[in-house]
Amino acid sequence: MELDAVHDQARARLPRGVYDYYAGGTEAEVTLGESVTSWQRWRLRPRMLRDVSAVSMTTTLLGTPVSMPIGVAPWALQRMAHPDGEAGTARGAAAAGTLMTVSTTATVSLAEVATASAGPKWFQLYRVKDPEYTDDLVRQAAEAGYRALVMTVDLPFLGRRLRDLVNEFQLPQGIEMANHPPKQAYGERGLNQALGTIATATWTFEDVTRFAALTSMPLVVKGVLRGDDAQRCLDAGASAVWVSTHGGRQVDPAIASAIALPEIVDAVGPDVEVYADGGVRRGSDVLTALALGARAVFVGRPTIWGLAAGGADGVRDVLTELAAALELTMALCGVSDVHDVPADLVVRA
Ligand code: GLV
Repeated sequence: MELDAVHDQARARLPRGVYDYYAGGTEAEVTLGESVTSWQRWRLRPRMLRDVSAVSMTTTLLGTPVSMPIGVAPWALQRMAHPDGEAGTARGAAAAGTLMTVSTTATVSLAEVATASAGPKWFQLYRVKDPEYTDDLVRQAAEAGYRALVMTVDLPFLGRRLRDLVNEFQLPQGIEMANHPPKQAYGERGLNQALGTIATATWTFEDVTRFAALTSMPLVVKGVLRGDDAQRCLDAGASAVWVSTHGGRQVDPAIASAIALPEIVDAVGPDVEVYADGGVRRGSDVLTALALGARAVFVGRPTIWGLAAGGADGVRDVLTELAAALELTMALCGVSDVHDVPADLVVRA
């Protein structure tokens, strides 16, 4: 099913407050909108007369094989979207052959999500309660078989989300943050209080070094929008960087990922994996990101709508639809392998 139709189905199913929480951005939602449109600030320069009878999309992300250069971005509180929550997303991602990034704010514990599917998973980290508790979550993730630690660094405080404020959005009854200590998980229902518990205002580059040393999982820093920051993350011990505006949910108006990506690729050089998320909706968006030097893209909202509309199958269908769109766009542009996307395939519109 077309991604817009899945979105419409999800909107029809979800309570207004939940829909707005997922769909919304911060302040004037400039970045939210530009995340989608800024991929189209680039134009493809297709190559003809290449043999594109077979197109290969398989790749590796920090050594983990995946069927496509498209993974599932972390998103919060998934049982608000569907009773299966993160377990459903894990099954959908595995069915599509790709990896899922599981949020600290998951409503199914990281150990349970790990066993919900055989597919590869990364664990996204916020601060939970005190440093010891947070460190323990990192250890639990490694034990449960997560393959990378994704430190989200763009949430020193929660951004100002006007839709949630107008809706006076509260976590619905029965929704708990399963990786939180019990008192925090069941305590605050107001969004700002509940999500305020994960904010990372004290984190600095020293914490990148600390977490990199704490675990044998490779460390990915997510939420980087500048070349100098990206380089400092690598110097501090990160293995990869993830360009993101947090879905337009933190700084507004922040530069969109499609515009920030080239500077970051340029700063870190060709040997470092760089990922991007934000507004990826079409095969051409993925191909543009690859031409700009991304190893892979991640998708958040499309998988939210997929889970809400159809559970695990909905997530799988959204991912396979996007992969099929990428495959066709690659073929039409004379590209037969995701590792062989020339930089000159795109030009600024
Ligand atoms: C949490 O990370 C959110 O964006 O709500």
